[in-house]
Amino acid sequence: NEGALWGARFAGGPSPELAALSRSTHFDWDLALYDIAGSHAHARALEAAGYLTADEARAMHAGLDALAARVGEGTLRAAPEDEDVHGALENALIAEVGPALGGKLRAGRSRNDQIATLVRLYLLDHGRTIAREVLRLIDAIVAQADAHADAVMPGRTHLQHAQPVLLAHHLQAYGWTLVRGLERLRDWSVRASVSPYGGGALAGSSLGLDPELVARELGLARPAENSLDGTASRDVVAEFAFVTAMIAVDLSRFAEDVIIWNTREFGFVTLDDAYSTGSSIMPQKKNPDIAELARGKAGRLIGNLTGLLATLKGLPLAYNRDLQEDKEPVFDSVRTLELILPAFAGMIATLRFDTARMAELAPEGFSLATDVADWLVRQGVPFRDAHEISGSLVRACEERGIGLDEAPDELLAEVSPALTPEVRDVLTVAGSVASRSGVGGTAPVRVTEQRRDLVSRAQAV
Ligand code: ARG
Repeated sequence: NEGALWGARFAGGPSPELAALSRSTHFDWDLALYDIAGSHAHARALEAAGYLTADEARAMHAGLDALAARVGEGTLRAAPEDEDVHGALENALIAEVGPALGGKLRAGRSRNDQIATLVRLYLLDHGRTIAREVLRLIDAIVAQADAHADAVMPGRTHLQHAQPVLLAHHLQAYGWTLVRGLERLRDWSVRASVSPYGGGALAGSSLGLDPELVARELGLARPAENSLDGTASRDVVAEFAFVTAMIAVDLSRFAEDVIIWNTREFGFVTLDDAYSTGSSIMPQKKNPDIAELARGKAGRLIGNLTGLLATLKGLPLAYNRDLQEDKEPVFDSVRTLELILPAFAGMIATLRFDTARMAELAPEGFSLATDVADWLVRQGVPFRDAHEISGSLVRACEERGIGLDEAPDELLAEVSPALTPEVRDVLTVAGSVASRSGVGGTAPVRVTEQRRDLVSRAQAV
């Protein structure tokens, strides 16, 4: 079993089938630079505890730097017989600095504490990249809201016309979901910033190594409090899978709006040519593929989360090899989201809105009926009665094929004596929108205030 990290107690090497099943270098190589960073930190702990002389430590760091350079330029790859990234890099280090020195590095660490630490480093790094991309998307949303500050649209519930709202209000609603995604990433990163390194396979180290030093070297807040928990828990990975799945699901909902808005029937938006695709058969087609891929790929992130939870649910303490199954799903979530986010931000930044059409449709479907009821309440009519009166007016107008604002005085009076002609003051979209001035409402003053809060919350993360 030449080059393996274990073997002496075995009569022979592993069967080819076992080796094939066991091998993880095709995905854990993504952790190579983190593995090397861990080795630098570990070498410092070994030196501090007297297991490496200053000269040996220097040679070790130089050897590790040489490996990192070759990993960076792609000239160092795992060999087919390497089981995992840890073994591959130990072999490469031994080839670089010789067995006398290279063979010292593994003292006081196990692949179990290594991998648990490396996956955190990887996720913390990519969490920062994802947060940056989410922030860019929020910027694109806010820029569109600013560019259409007065635009109104039909607000919907159950996908039916409900009440008119400002387009900026609708767009900023997505901004808020994404801000919570950023905040979740930040809150998660506090829990993730723990170093299991030095916990060994499960029970901790007997060599007097300083886990605080290793944590500090790796930029993590502190060592794991419990070596069993440090090596065997993956809730931090599952939580990351949830936070990223939630962001993807929020994008998927936004995508659904864009897809609907982009239909001929709605006609609310036009997609920029650079952010839409054509058909191989229908020459006229312009398809919202970014939105559809975002919606479709959200399913992958959900699957990655549920798959990981299923992996974890039956595992006793401490480390079990099943835990190797944490990486492929969460790496996929990272890669997928890092692909979706920039494309999505570009699509939103370049959307063209047909604000005239949106304004024309805003009052349709009797969407001002609530304004009639609210107006009656302000005249002293109990809301229960006001709701009935407004509903009767809707029915009367529907029968006559007219809008609420077109109801003649006689019809208003016939429906209810409380409906004086002054009610028409609220029967405009602008009046309706302006009247919803409660906190968080769609009135322009509130939407402006909300925009300020949204930007400062996003920047505070
Ligand atoms: N490749 C493993 C993982 O990803 C780490 C190695 C631990 N292997 C072992 N036999 N204890 O979890």
